[in-house]
Amino acid sequence: MSGESTYVPKNAVAKWFESRLPVLGLAHSSFVVFPNPRNLNYWWTFGGILAFLLISQIITGVVLAMHYTPESTLAFDSVERIMRDVNFGWLMRYWHANGASMFFIGLYVHILRGMYYGSYKAPREVLWLLGFIIYLLSMATAFMGYVLPWGQMSFWGATVITSLFSAIPVVGDAITTWLWGGYSVDNATLNRFFALHYLLPFMIVGVVGLHIWALHVPGSNNPTGIEPESAKDTLPFHPYFTVKDGFALTVFLIFYAWFVFYIPNYLGHADNYIEANPLVTPPHIVPEWYYLPFYAILRSIPSKFGGFLAMFGAVLIVAVLPWLDTSKIKSAVYRPLFRIFFWIFVVDAVLLGYIGSQPPEGGAVIAGRLLTAYYFIHFLVILPLLSRFEPTRPLPASISDAVLGDSVKAEPALASH
Ligand code: HEM
Repeated sequence: MSGESTYVPKNAVAKWFESRLPVLGLAHSSFVVFPNPRNLNYWWTFGGILAFLLISQIITGVVLAMHYTPESTLAFDSVERIMRDVNFGWLMRYWHANGASMFFIGLYVHILRGMYYGSYKAPREVLWLLGFIIYLLSMATAFMGYVLPWGQMSFWGATVITSLFSAIPVVGDAITTWLWGGYSVDNATLNRFFALHYLLPFMIVGVVGLHIWALHVPGSNNPTGIEPESAKDTLPFHPYFTVKDGFALTVFLIFYAWFVFYIPNYLGHADNYIEANPLVTPPHIVPEWYYLPFYAILRSIPSKFGGFLAMFGAVLIVAVLPWLDTSKIKSAVYRPLFRIFFWIFVVDAVLLGYIGSQPPEGGAVIAGRLLTAYYFIHFLVILPLLSRFEPTRPLPASISDAVLGDSVKAEPALASH
């Protein structure tokens, strides 16, 4: 996963083991001595935070699964039992349910960091694509997880989203029946969603392994977007970045704990405390907050199939970003126009999220259409045009030069890291 190993086993057992399976050396070269650009800022701590959250979701999820019943007449009550009777069940459930939101906060920060600093550009396209696959798998996992408590929003959210497939010409109805395992969302659907919700996180772990492998080939990008040239541009991962990542994770955990312990239902929907009832449709069906921009895009297109294509298109377009923005300069720091449009894009996505949370009536429909149009124009028109014609700022000679300027020359001790 990284350069050559400088690991020397310290005792006989480690030596014996290392000569048979050199994982200690691999860990050492990947997470101890691995050289990272010295100028990484706090936006680079989110990869580590995401890794922590993934493990935390798996641990709490496995414990919840020990007490949960994936059967449509028992699922809702089994969750209530976890909340009331299982020792620390309330903590496991609130930690897991809010953990999904924390994971998506982490993902969106991580993705936007990559977009701002051009981390998706060569030689990191495969790293980006692997990240995109993680994002898709995460969306599928969270969608199926939300169905499990079998509340009104679980049931109707699942019905709305799976029904979208029926808009596909000719084979749509057959696909939908196949997905449901019947003629509506029912026990068979709940059962398979539980099986897949348990499986997918482990697939995500596998793809994260490849993601970090692909990261360690070129090494991390950095706020300047210039690759490190010499040892003075980098610092070893430990202790510099282990400490920085640890500090950021601690702050993030305080934020997370605030939700879990003070406002555990703030990000959920009250209707999910009403058991699923196929005969009563809630007046206003909304997905979880992290899907809202895409939900707004879906509803902005008058035709059902058109909405389906636009929604999935809006997700998939993120994957091909490295081939839409072909500017040689990576970081937005040296691309003033790109930077402005980046922030317009962020505002556009946030507003789309707000529109997705509102009933599709009156001004919200018009606003949704305009925001959807900008979303696609940003990727398909603005980014390709900027890559060709934008004025850019001059790049510094090296990372050290950008960060330390003259002090590199003035303080040789500092520069010798
Ligand atoms: C479970 C989810 C994920 C985990 C655990 C994860 C983990 C990591 C880690 C540990 C790093 C190095 C530290 C850092 O740069 O923050 C990293 C870098 C990166 N990740 Fe992820 N990642 C995840 C999802 C994603 C997604 C969804 C994308 C994009 C669609 C993505 C794109 C990238 C890119 C481009 C880099 C290189 C950044 C740079 O060097 O500037 N990752 N990831």
